[in-house]
Amino acid sequence: MLFFNSRLFYVGMVSFVLILVLILSMWVRYTIPEHMDVPSIPPSNALYKNTKIPIEVRVQDLLSYMTLNEKIEQMVLVEKNSVHNLDDITSYGLGAMLSGFGAKPTDNTGIGWNTMVTDFVMRSEKSRLGIPLFYGVDAIHGHSNIANATIFPHFIGLGATGNVKLVEDVARATAEELVATGIRWSFSPTLDMPRDIRWGRTYETFSDDPVLVGKLGTAYINGLQKEKAGSSTSSIFVMGTPKHFVGIGGMQWGSSSNKDFKIDQGTTYPDEAKLREEYLFPFTKVIDAGALSIMIGLNSWGDTKLSASSYLVTNVLKGELGFKGFAVSDWYGVYEISKSKYDSTVSAINAGIDMVMLPFDYSTFVGNVLHAVQNGDIAESRIDDAVRRILRAKFALGLFDAQSPHVSLDVIGSAEHRALARDAVAQSLVLLKNENAVLPIATTTRFIRVAGSTADNIGRQAGAWTVEWQGIDGNWLPNATSILAGIRARAGSTTRIAYDELGNFADDGEIADIGIAIVGEKPYAEGWGDTAYPILSIEDREAIKKLRATSKKVVVIIVSGRPLFVTNEIASWDAVVAAWLPGSEGEGVADGLFGDTPFVGTLPLPWPHHTEQLPIMRDGRTADKTSVLFPRFFGLR
Ligand code: BGC
Repeated sequence: MLFFNSRLFYVGMVSFVLILVLILSMWVRYTIPEHMDVPSIPPSNALYKNTKIPIEVRVQDLLSYMTLNEKIEQMVLVEKNSVHNLDDITSYGLGAMLSGFGAKPTDNTGIGWNTMVTDFVMRSEKSRLGIPLFYGVDAIHGHSNIANATIFPHFIGLGATGNVKLVEDVARATAEELVATGIRWSFSPTLDMPRDIRWGRTYETFSDDPVLVGKLGTAYINGLQKEKAGSSTSSIFVMGTPKHFVGIGGMQWGSSSNKDFKIDQGTTYPDEAKLREEYLFPFTKVIDAGALSIMIGLNSWGDTKLSASSYLVTNVLKGELGFKGFAVSDWYGVYEISKSKYDSTVSAINAGIDMVMLPFDYSTFVGNVLHAVQNGDIAESRIDDAVRRILRAKFALGLFDAQSPHVSLDVIGSAEHRALARDAVAQSLVLLKNENAVLPIATTTRFIRVAGSTADNIGRQAGAWTVEWQGIDGNWLPNATSILAGIRARAGSTTRIAYDELGNFADDGEIADIGIAIVGEKPYAEGWGDTAYPILSIEDREAIKKLRATSKKVVVIIVSGRPLFVTNEIASWDAVVAAWLPGSEGEGVADGLFGDTPFVGTLPLPWPHHTEQLPIMRDGRTADKTSVLFPRFFGLR
């Protein structure tokens, strides 16, 4: 009794309670995120729900209801196949999802895509604050995840057209096919500028000329983003993502950080003058055009990975260029900064990355960022800034509002879009040589022989990023027209056409009036297309020789993602056309050959003789100071 009334008991009790409080508060501090305990509930008439209120006010209002956890979840961009439990979309409030190229629904049709994406979006809308997720894909030459979509020429072909209106129309048609499947986000256009054609992504670029890239990049953003005049909504149609910031295409051969590649994901020499004179220019143009997101590349600027460069992402892109949208990192790029996932995440977010294309493990990411904020490694104001940028884009797309744009599934691969693609193919053809006016071919021509690996191979003419990331070699794309089929359809009714891929024609002594060789590269994507010697295969060179021996004149059509070294052979060819990677509408090539459409394309980049000339500078200077086979913008009419 005496003990319980004693002073010692009293002091002991007070200390015990104090220690308990201390332990409890530490537990709360380190295990339960700040704000998590009291999520604030928006009223039914919250400002952010009101479509009449300016976007900035809506963003700020929504932000005020968000817990730290919810903010971090908005910064997540996860690949759909990494979400093993679809309930996570709601419980994690995932900010964004993507289909890595080739990650399609089991039913790879417009309906299949629409059903899948709509389900993901509806799940996100069931999260506490009902913030809809972004769903993104690489629609880089049409909505080319879908086999019966319209497959437009790859960007290098669009660059050859130099036609702003056409590029805007192509982007618009692509956007319509995307919206029909419920997708409002495309990771395009590419603003990279290749200085070295050995790079496997050369064909993903419009040109190596900043002015042309700026012009066509702007046209593409306009085509994707602008709402149609007279539309009932005033929101952005499809959000584009110009990529990849910055200096990509200028990487040095042999500098790749990926052991399987040579130049892709390599190092760009950190030349400040070039940064300002060349690399930034196209980005200033698309920012002016209203780009809402920009992808940060996988390359390094000197010693620094782009996604860790606060100088380039925060000071230059967001500061100097005044970019108000969000910076999204490229595939797994953030984790290539250092060996520790935590350190990499902290560096990237502090450098200014707003959304992280993880693309796999979102729970570790959310945990790491939460701890980084609690440890003071990332300021909460940085998280707020990132989320503000992401929400701004979501409001601009009208994702919160009832009236989202509707496009019928019939647009996918429609006759109208295919006609546009065919026109784009015809305009992309660059006539490099035409001796004795072999072209155009008269419809009265008696006998034509056709050979070459790409004559009857839609997979090759479409290139990679077509249903599968690396493309599929062979004749498998439904509703598409091969170049051979285009020639057959377009030739005169009395013209006889003989075809053999290898040029092995019957040895009957007959000589054709014209031999057409359609030759080129197998599909490849990214660093898998880095190659030391971009040349024609032996089979293709042999097929051309055999045509030469069995035809009076030989026309060579090069179907490739880049200029190929042809110096040793070109003298014996009568006419040469660069057709790039035309896509699903091979008839567009025949339109040029038979003179239905004039040749208007010009080379979007110089065509070198050999490796020693690489890299080639903007002013056309080659590494060995010799002159190229054809300069940039060359093209016969
Ligand atoms: C490419 C990006 C592309 C992303 C998502 C990356 O490998 O570098 O250009 O947008 O994958 O598919």
